[in-house]
Amino acid sequence: MRCNFLDYETAENKIKEIIDSKAPDILQKVVDFFYYKFENYSWVGIYVVEGDDLVLGSWTGLKATDHIRIPIGKGICGSAASTGKTEIVPDVGADDRYLSCFFSTKSEIVVPIKRDGKIIAEIDIDSDIKNAFTNEDKLFLEKIADMLAKHI
Ligand code: SME
Repeated sequence: MRCNFLDYETAENKIKEIIDSKAPDILQKVVDFFYYKFENYSWVGIYVVEGDDLVLGSWTGLKATDHIRIPIGKGICGSAASTGKTEIVPDVGADDRYLSCFFSTKSEIVVPIKRDGKIIAEIDIDSDIKNAFTNEDKLFLEKIADMLAKHI
């Protein structure tokens, strides 16, 4: 069941537990956790940098995306990968860069994952609600991105 009962601090601690468990599928467990515990998060994926592209790794959502490889510089994902800055798009219909994956998506956040200052991956979350992502989501997800950097 999907729910929205966790505050960000509790969620951060739960994700720490997942990472500390040293399970072989940490990234999948983390995207699943986001998806099941934050009901605004409709699709959650981790793209990994491979050469000049972003390649989809672990993901959770109702449907698979066709965008399993995105050139750096293209789309919201590619923009975040080229600037290294978190992208919040409150209304995907109003952003020309947006690469559409799901008809239901209304807003998106993309958070780069960096190791030693280099962008190695990113967390991409779609929401079926406009304006779903707040500055709190951004700060929370940036912390998690730092925590995941060692595990990509
Ligand atoms: N919307 C993204 C593409 C990835 S899907 O959201 C899963 C973009 O504009 O880069």
